[in-house]
Amino acid sequence: MSLQDTEALVLPFLKWPGGKRWFVKKYSDLLPLDYNTYLEPFLGSGAVFFHLKPTRAILSDLNPDVIAAYSSIKTDFKFIKRSLQYHQRKHNEDYYYQVRKKKTISECQQGSKMLYLNRTCFNGIYRVNQNGEFNVPIGSKEKVLLDTDDFESISKLLQSAQIFKSDFEFVIDKAKSGDFVFADPPYTVRHNLNGFIKYNEQLFSWADQERLASSLLRAKNRGAKIVLTNANHSSIKELYEGFGFHLRVVSRYSSIAASGADRKQFEELVILSHPNK
Ligand SMILES: C[S@@+](CC[C@H](N)C(=O)[O-])C[C@H]1O[C@@H](n2cnc3c(N)ncnc32)[C@H](O)[C@@H]1O
Repeated sequence: MSLQDTEALVLPFLKWPGGKRWFVKKYSDLLPLDYNTYLEPFLGSGAVFFHLKPTRAILSDLNPDVIAAYSSIKTDFKFIKRSLQYHQRKHNEDYYYQVRKKKTISECQQGSKMLYLNRTCFNGIYRVNQNGEFNVPIGSKEKVLLDTDDFESISKLLQSAQIFKSDFEFVIDKAKSGDFVFADPPYTVRHNLNGFIKYNEQLFSWADQERLASSLLRAKNRGAKIVLTNANHSSIKELYEGFGFHLRVVSRYSSIAASGADRKQFEELVILSHPNK
């Protein structure tokens, strides 16, 4: 059940690390065709949500700025558009740093600030200091408004979505029989072997991975359909093997000359509640 045929092309509006655009391009056949409510507890840029355009959805992320961006487009896309036009006219280095340190009062201001910074900061990185203040320097991109922006259609699509700033467990616990949960957490593994994963560990601990596996297993046992993406690592496999999940290794790139350890870097694991063809 989706609005895919009736809606214009509606694309993710955030640039987000770990975004799953590549996944929907190559592996959309792993997503179920029929479901009641769509749940996405690690929303980020929502590549899978925008691909499916479900008629009913529950969306969440722990990041308050991400959620402010979605909620403000949902409630007042005209404000967001006007405000980004203003940012576009004013954009320069001084202005970027002024906006970066400015406290926002309303959710719409917070959403607009998030979009402006996400589009003009260095490499679209999201990083905050210990006080929760965004501290990424300015980048080279100058386009605040993109040709592909269609905030009105995004707002329309979001009208039938409930949006929460919350931990994943709160949302996964809402999944009922016939619903579909797509979960794309930050990747961490039990044995930290490289810096990237170590950094992620502060954001999403191994205990979080275990808690995620338990909540997805509970949802599966209630009859929900599950697709989880994660690191292709033995510790992750051990979490799901033996509980009736189906595991599949996928590759981010279509043809890779690399072999062995190099190739592994581009592989990810997809964990499904249903067998895939
Ligand atoms: C890999 S990203 C998701 C990317 C997304 N699938 C996309 O296409 O852009 C993981 C997301 O999980 C969020 N996150 C981290 N810890 C969380 C938690 N405990 N509960 C919910 N969301 C969390 C992060 O803010 C981040 O947006």
